[in-house]
Amino acid sequence: MEPMQTKNKLEAVGFDFGTTNSSVALLNEGSEVQLASFPSFGTEVQSFRSVLYLEQYRTGDGARRTHALTGPTAIERYLQAEEKGRLIQSLKSHLSSRSLTGTEVFGRRYKLEDLIARMLGDLRKHAAKQFEKPIHYAMVGRPVRFVGSETPEDDDFAVSRLREAFTAAGFERVDFELEPVAAACAYEATLDHDELILIGDFGGGTSDFSLLHVGPGVRRRGRTPQDLLGNSGVGLAGDAFDARIVRKLVSPALGSNSEARSLNKLLPAVPAWIYANLERWHYLSFLRTNNVREILKSARIRALEPEKIQALITLIEEDLGYQLHQAVQKVKFELSRNESAEFHFREGSPADPSIDLRIPVTRREFESWIENDLHAIEDSIDKLLTNSGIHPRAVDRVFLTGGSSFVPAVRRIFETRFGGDRIRSGNEFTSVAHGLALRAAEALSQSS
Ligand SMILES: Nc1ncnc2c1ncn2[C@@H]1O[C@H](COP(=O)(O)OP(=O)(O)OP(=O)(O)O)[C@@H](O)[C@H]1O
Ligand SMILES: [Mg+2]
Repeated sequence: MEPMQTKNKLEAVGFDFGTTNSSVALLNEGSEVQLASFPSFGTEVQSFRSVLYLEQYRTGDGARRTHALTGPTAIERYLQAEEKGRLIQSLKSHLSSRSLTGTEVFGRRYKLEDLIARMLGDLRKHAAKQFEKPIHYAMVGRPVRFVGSETPEDDDFAVSRLREAFTAAGFERVDFELEPVAAACAYEATLDHDELILIGDFGGGTSDFSLLHVGPGVRRRGRTPQDLLGNSGVGLAGDAFDARIVRKLVSPALGSNSEARSLNKLLPAVPAWIYANLERWHYLSFLRTNNVREILKSARIRALEPEKIQALITLIEEDLGYQLHQAVQKVKFELSRNESAEFHFREGSPADPSIDLRIPVTRREFESWIENDLHAIEDSIDKLLTNSGIHPRAVDRVFLTGGSSFVPAVRRIFETRFGGDRIRSGNEFTSVAHGLALRAAEALSQSS
């Protein structure tokens, strides 16, 4: 815990900066948790899309300036823009990478921490206005294991960068709490008795687990480190599932399995690295280069299925990465509800679409594509139980949260180990921020 150095009154604010969605919560004087809400496409939502849009404009004297927008406004502006700027998502997934220091946009380098700080700053301002309180402090969530992290040092490095981003966004003090522990605090608030619980938080970037004792009795006697039996996590979740859908469903329709004649041989029409860039949709704009243009033009001439290569060219030239990702998400969501669905991606004029893909897909197929991811998740949960010396029978309840906990195959992992009766779920997009606000109040009361 850091010493209090600030003169400002610190409010109990919880800040969940998520890979896909972010939320901010406040524990107010009435001991109620209040969630900030954000206008989004005509409605109000409690989660803010963690996206950033950088666009260029000309000032009166003709100079070029860059302008940054965040959240739903970023998406709206991007979709309306004639001349597209750069839409960036999943920034949190790069925090552990020592080689990724930032990115170049319009010929200028931006540090990752500063890009994240833009988003945090907007969220902070918006929440402060809504809560009618200045925000100088936050309890910030962190995954057990960041995306791409291989060692505890990588995780420490990611946290130090996140701290730097919060400082750059104007926070005077931040503390960190594990995201699943925060979700546990939110769940605990609903309890009238103590329980040993397993939390599973499945987001866009990471899947995180904690095993801990919670409840009114635990709170009354005061939490001890022994209440937390262990944590585990893997740096994969919803984004990884999306990437599998692109690889297995979308890329083949764009020629990834297609061949082209080269002398007397048949070879892959387009090099695999081009499709790898489709799997992270916001990398698609990196493919608008003369080199790629040349490769694809010559592939289209030689390919046995030139129409697939043409669709790929259109996707890249029209910079449809965001729209493609929306279609991928839509089919994924549908497969959470139904046994089968249709992937549908249609762009251009209604009479003459430039791309029109309709591909049926079953939940079973989707589950086979994410099989390795599911195994990694299972391993992580089993290790947590083994390392804590806890038999699944001893766990009173399992609480599942985060958007990717809607995936039936993810839920099944818990059903087979614990039975459906012991599983609870809810507040998929806000439980972490809610719990962080409660943890913020605990931290402030301990340090005051
Ligand atoms: N109905 C659904 N079925 C399947 N996946 C879903 C559904 N709804 C949301 N998702 C996925 O949930 C993920 C977002 O969840 P969430 O907002 O909890 O993540 P996050 O907190 O931003 O990420 P992280 O915790 O990893 O930093 C996205 O990958 C999204 O596609
Ligand atoms: Mg999350």
